[in-house]
Amino acid sequence: MKLEHKVAIVTGAGRNIGEAIAHRLAGEGAKVAVVDLDGARAEKVADGIKAGGGAAIGLTADVADEDAVKGLVADTVAALGRIDILVNNVAISDNKHILEITKAEWDRVMAVTLGAPFLMGKYCAQQMVDQGDGGAIVNIASTSGWRGRPRALAYTAAKGGVINLTRSMAVQLASHGIRVNSISPNKIGSPVGKQEFDPTRPVKNLAGRPGAPEDMAAAVLFLVSGDSQFVWGENLFVDGGVMAMEVS
Ligand SMILES: NC(=O)c1ccc[n+]([C@@H]2O[C@H](COP(=O)([O-])OP(=O)(O)OC[C@H]3O[C@@H](n4cnc5c(N)ncnc54)[C@H](O)[C@@H]3O)[C@@H](O)[C@H]2O)c1
Repeated sequence: MKLEHKVAIVTGAGRNIGEAIAHRLAGEGAKVAVVDLDGARAEKVADGIKAGGGAAIGLTADVADEDAVKGLVADTVAALGRIDILVNNVAISDNKHILEITKAEWDRVMAVTLGAPFLMGKYCAQQMVDQGDGGAIVNIASTSGWRGRPRALAYTAAKGGVINLTRSMAVQLASHGIRVNSISPNKIGSPVGKQEFDPTRPVKNLAGRPGAPEDMAAAVLFLVSGDSQFVWGENLFVDGGVMAMEVS
């Protein structure tokens, strides 16, 4: 097991990609704080981990809220003893054109998709610094942070921010032994903000199939384990090869 004696926080872990990440880290021996705005979802995933012999707690919080973030970090340390790993998985999308998105919609997407990784990074990194023996942070970005899209504006801007937030966090936290990296997925399972997998969702990639949440979990496990100990401030595309393809 690669993560024995480690404690991990995974945000937005109540379903889809975050859920798969929480299960994968727990399967490698980490104790996992499963965080979600939807408390029932968080509890269900934590219960599933426990039923499989792992250790987990479910926490209900809006990770765009600074007081809630402080509270969930304190609750994790109280219940599980420490924090070694943070996976910033939460995001919401606007799915809007610039001529129709409102300022309020822009603000909420930026607060959740870019602001939450900052807040979670700040308070978890402080805990890791206080512990004194390093840590690993993975921000879930997106191929949408690298390209313009016709039907998403704030989300694409926020994800571009997540990618460079990752680099600055990596630069600023390296002296504390905290490695910060990101992954950029493309079309994994169901779209952001939706529960249902849509088999008609067009996917054109080198893999010839849609990505699965488990594909993301495997990449995150690599980036939080000792297998990636020389990988610092990097982005890993886990996109079936989409970013390598010529647009036709
Ligand atoms: N699904 C994709 O195709 C895809 C593609 C590229 C990148 N990503 C990225 O992967 C990550 C996960 O995406 P997903 O599709 O699994 O998302 P999802 O919408 O299925 O699940 C997100 C979870 O986060 C929770 N959440 C939302 N706002 C929250 C908040 N403020 N505080 C706490 N919890 C909150 C939701 O309740 C939900 O359970 C996101 O960062 C997303 O941008 C997804």
